[in-house]
Order: sequence, then C-alpha cells, then structure tokens
Amino acid sequence: MNALPALPSFPVSRPRRLRSTAALRRLVSDVSLRPSDLVLPMFVREDIAEPVPIASMPGVVQHTQESLRKAAVEAVEAGVGGLMLFGIPASKDARGSGADDPAGVLNTALRRLRDEFGDGTVLMADLCLDEFTDHGHCGVLDESGNVDNDATLERYADMAEAQAEAGAHLLGTSGMMDGQVGAVRAALDDAGRPDVGILAYAVKYASAFYGPFREAVNSSLEGDRKAYQQDYARTAGEALAEVALDVAEGADIVMVKPALPYLDVLRAVADASPVPVAAYQISGEYAMVEAAAERGWLDRERAIAETLTSIRRAGASIILTYWAVEAARAL
Ligand code: PBG
Repeated sequence: MNALPALPSFPVSRPRRLRSTAALRRLVSDVSLRPSDLVLPMFVREDIAEPVPIASMPGVVQHTQESLRKAAVEAVEAGVGGLMLFGIPASKDARGSGADDPAGVLNTALRRLRDEFGDGTVLMADLCLDEFTDHGHCGVLDESGNVDNDATLERYADMAEAQAEAGAHLLGTSGMMDGQVGAVRAALDDAGRPDVGILAYAVKYASAFYGPFREAVNSSLEGDRKAYQQDYARTAGEALAEVALDVAEGADIVMVKPALPYLDVLRAVADASPVPVAAYQISGEYAMVEAAAERGWLDRERAIAETLTSIRRAGASIILTYWAVEAARAL
C-alpha cells in the first residue's frame, strides 16, 4: 500500500494568505476587463415610433433609429469597444429582401451611426438572414424546405456589399453556412472594400439560450437550427475545425457563442487561434441572471462581474454582452 506522504507541518504554503485583504487580492489578480473589450449588441426596428421593451430581456429594447442613436452615443461615451447592430424590418419575405436593401432598417442604422461616429467606434452588423426572412431561417430554402447553403451564400454576398456601403467596419457572419466567410470576403474585395473586416461566428451552437433573442427580433422561426448550427454534444475538435476554415477563408476575428456553457471550447479556441477571439454572452445568459436577480435569488452585479470575468479567463479578448454599458461604467 502506498501511504500518502505526510504533509509538512512547517513551513507550509497557505493559499488563504493572499486572500486575506482586498488589497492583496487586487495585487495578485491576473484577469481583468477593460471597457474597450466589451461590445454592445443593439436592436433597431423599422415600424415603431417609440422604443419597445423586450419582455424576456429586462432593460433591453427594440430601438427606433433615433433612440438607437442616443443609446449608441451613451455606449460610446461609456467607453465600450464597439456596437453590434441587428435590424428588425417591418415586413419579411422568403429571401429576406430587407437585408441588402440600402434603405432597409439595418443599413439605414449603419449609415446614420457611421455619420455620427466616423471611425470613433467600431460598427458591426449581424450578417444573417433570420431577422429578415418570413420563415425565420438564417438562409433561403430549397423546394423541400431545407436551408440551401450555396444559394444563401449569394444572399450573404449581397448583404456584405450593402453593409460595407452603409458604413460597417466589421461584418458578423452568423448564419453558420459553410463557406460564408470566403463568400463574404470575396464579395467585399470585389466591391473594392478590402478595408472592411469579418468577425466570424466561427463556433456557434444550436442553443436553447437564444430563446429571448427570438422575441428581440420578432422571429417567426418554427423548429430549430440544428441542421446548420453545431451540436453541443461534441467536444472542441469540431470547433477547432470551424475556426481553421474561417481563418483560412479570411476571418479577422473568430467568435464562440454562446459563452458560459462553452468555456471549455472557448479556451481551446483561444489557445489555437492565430486571430483575436471573441465570445458572445447571449440573450438567454442575460435573461437567466436578470430573472434570478429580480426574484432576489442572486446578487445581480456580482453575477454579472463573475460571468464576464470567467469568459475573459477562458480566453476571450472581446466580449459581446447586453451588459456592456453598465459593465463599462462599473470598471
Ligand atoms: C443570427 C443570430 C442569433 C443571435 C445572434 N445572431 C440567433 C440565432 O442564431 O438563433 C443570438 C444572439 C442572442 O441570443 O443574444 N442572426
């Protein structure tokens, strides 16, 4: 039998020593966040005169163009690193026509904010069709009702051109079509826009935590996105393959999404990626903390700080979060 070696009685390392005062804890802490690491996702809706609250995301609203502008100014003044815009059109159709319409809600918002800020912040746009399609899928459908990968890439190419023209600095390819980064990169280069970058949603799981987002964008989706988003019952190998493809196709930043249930994947991606890594703390991650806090079941501010710090600790250098402004002010 192997007996455990006896612990030395003296001297002995005492980990609690460095936890004993706030000043010591501050001295030894080695994970921190800056306001400029945080990106605020924002929703802008076409057919409304006043901002509309999103019930499942307390504190988050669907903006009018004007309320979006004001909230964006506040966010930039708070020091956030950038803004990620989502558009909700007044009418949706099968091909998501509003997405690449220069006068569409998202492109209008981009144009207005670019006029407002110039290069003073980083403007990003969701490059996906689900906010614009009447069936709610991230792409166009074939005759049998499946998402048609390559026909969707053509739509994404048109969106890319429109969003670049409208003033986006970074395009967030979030539809999980194969080849989407390459298609968008080629479209941008062909349009004479090598300056516009791609924030690739490289690793994106089919997640229950997108629930509140469906309300946020008035989604008409029935069913799920499991035929194109990743299966959470797979380890990080598939995620690394997705990252390798996106980097090869021209991704400037790669993102993992959702964040909190996927910190293991985030760490693997951060260790392997040659480009900066972002993580998206999504609608359901926001909602569960807000809901529990509302019931007095956990301390809201502490939970926010802990989740954001954990995401950073797992390797994200950029974090998309609906708490971006509040967190930036608290830092
Ligand atoms: C796709 C997209 C989604 C989110 C961001 N981009 C929805 C989805 O993939 O189902 C979700 C963000 C969130 O839940 O906060 N356009």
